[in-house]
Amino acid sequence: MADLADEGKELLGKLKQQGDSILDKFKMVQTEKEIDLSRVVKVAIIGCGWIAEAHVEGYQACPDVQIVAAADLVPGKAEAFCRRYGIKGARIYESDEALIAAEKDLDAVSICTYNTQHAPCAIHALNAGLNVLLEKPFTVTLEEAVAVMKAEKASGKILSIGFQPRLDANMQMIKKIVASGELGEIYYIQTGGGRRRGIPTPFGTSFIDQSTGGIGALGDIGCYSLDLVLNAIGYPRPLTVSGYTSNFFGTNPQYYINEGQPAEYASHFGVDDFAAAFVRLEGGIVLDFRIAWAMHLDTPGDTIIMGKKGALRVPSTECWNGTVDKPMVIYHEIAGEAVETVIPIIQSSGSLFNKKIRSFVDAVKDHLPAPVPSSQILYNQAIIDGINRSARAGRELPIEIPEI
Ligand SMILES: NC(=O)c1ccc[n+]([C@@H]2O[C@H](COP(=O)([O-])OP(=O)(O)OC[C@H]3O[C@@H](n4cnc5c(N)ncnc54)[C@H](O)[C@@H]3O)[C@@H](O)[C@H]2O)c1
Repeated sequence: MADLADEGKELLGKLKQQGDSILDKFKMVQTEKEIDLSRVVKVAIIGCGWIAEAHVEGYQACPDVQIVAAADLVPGKAEAFCRRYGIKGARIYESDEALIAAEKDLDAVSICTYNTQHAPCAIHALNAGLNVLLEKPFTVTLEEAVAVMKAEKASGKILSIGFQPRLDANMQMIKKIVASGELGEIYYIQTGGGRRRGIPTPFGTSFIDQSTGGIGALGDIGCYSLDLVLNAIGYPRPLTVSGYTSNFFGTNPQYYINEGQPAEYASHFGVDDFAAAFVRLEGGIVLDFRIAWAMHLDTPGDTIIMGKKGALRVPSTECWNGTVDKPMVIYHEIAGEAVETVIPIIQSSGSLFNKKIRSFVDAVKDHLPAPVPSSQILYNQAIIDGINRSARAGRELPIEIPEI
């Protein structure tokens, strides 16, 4: 009997697998059918480093997109990049400005430059009437973000910021839980994340040099943690911030020696490798935040969203990858009893990067709102900027966001 039951389970499992695979194929055919191939979106890549690879793979998965040009400041880099990705016929330039001036038939650009070149490149592209997919972090300073948004407003074009973790089903579940009212009115949030050893220097110093990175862990991965919770609660306006930043790991030559990297990276290190802050948000909400590229700790803690009816615990997650790797738990009351509801992990298929590109292309083609609008990420940037200003001042400061 037991054998028969096992065989039955195995058969059911196989049938389910076959069913899922047929469903996946059906979904693919359906998606491809929905794409209007008569309208091709012409895009260019600005900055041909590591993240540009994910953009190109995303565009190459769109049958209605043509990559027509690429630019990089490093001579030969854009050309080698296009060759590596089989992008035939793409015109090559050695700066964003040269590309934008010469290309008269472009619909959009992907800006994949290091952080300090986000604002100038985005402004050049928007001023030329192009739609822009700009990598995260939005900019380095709040002032720059405001300048980009003024150019966006004047252009009437789409500006979307590259936060692909938002497309993960588990991340979306966090927002759905808050929206359902299950937690009641939110009053306290703890968020952040970090790596024990994870200063991003595998491809050189562009993340750690002040002139290229501009901001460190705070901008690189902190922006994701902030987006995770702020997007979930509808991006309330930040009001004040008390921030702290440090750089004890990044400036220590021994760190790099231990990691098998050049010790001289320590002398390039001009940004933060750890940041913490206490932020007051509109609506009486407080946000307790910390982020690390390196620390003597496994994790700086789970994300917690506390409301008057319940609280949500999101186990410490690699927020920068858009993953929740353990089930989330809601702590609430049922019939006056304190109970917990476990939210199982939702398995989703397909690359988040490809989804990010597809949603941008759809917005460009169909004149839809930006998938990740600058009006939200402005608040993310205002907090990052405020943490840096407050850390330098050594006290709590107001966050003032100019009208755009
Ligand atoms: N969304 C994500 O998951 C993700 C992941 C990694 C990096 N990023 C972001 O992408 C950006 C780039 O990261 P990366 O790892 O590719 O950096 P990188 O240093 O490897 O590449 C950046 C490239 O931009 C070029 N560049 C700079 N200014 C330019 C200009 N004005 N015109 C043309 N080219 C220019 C540089 O020469 C360099 O080759 C960073 O802001 C980073 O935060 C996002």
